[in-house]
Amino acid sequence: MIALLLALAQAAGTGPAADVAAPAPAPPPYAMPGEEAVAPYTPDPRNLGARPFAGQAMARAFHGRAGIERIVTRMVADARADPAISEIFVNQDMVRLRRTLTEQICAILNAGCTYSGRDMASAHKDLGIRRADMNRLVELLQHAMTAEGVGFAAQNRLLARLAPMHDEVVER
Ligand code: HEM
Repeated sequence: MIALLLALAQAAGTGPAADVAAPAPAPPPYAMPGEEAVAPYTPDPRNLGARPFAGQAMARAFHGRAGIERIVTRMVADARADPAISEIFVNQDMVRLRRTLTEQICAILNAGCTYSGRDMASAHKDLGIRRADMNRLVELLQHAMTAEGVGFAAQNRLLARLAPMHDEVVER
């Protein structure tokens, strides 16, 4: 009888078996399928590095997440082909860079994304990025935004939110 009661309690999840510790929560997906492994880090809203816009005007100006993805794809491809800065991107995971950069810009523009990547200082540590490299990447971003048909006022509003990240990205 006792055995039967125990079996029933276990089946109901109230017996001794229910005392078994719950499995630890799964770690965050540091890397998504198709990306190279990265050292564990703590995803944090502050990693975004900028205050997101309110309202939908900026998201509309960039044609939503799809437009942002096109801009990032073009900018990353141009950076990899650019004689002045291509070297910095050699042996880096472009699949991850495209995903996290799209997430970041999309989150800043309030276009419906959460940024899951690293903070800007950790992401650019030891890359040896100089002020001129930063200026060149901004030019390529401007070119990609113009190709997407984003107006200049909206372009400049985004660039103003990215500009303060300079100190975390550029090495002195
Ligand atoms: C405001 C300017 C910039 C922003 C917002 C930005 C954003 C990002 C983001 C979101 C990541 C990925 C973070 C992650 O993997 O968790 C990243 C990585 C990277 N960025 Fe930037 N970036 C900026 C400037 C630059 C510049 C100027 C260069 C070089 C010219 C550059 C080169 C790279 C490279 C090579 C990586 C890959 C590093 C790695 O995987 O270890 N970034 N950046």
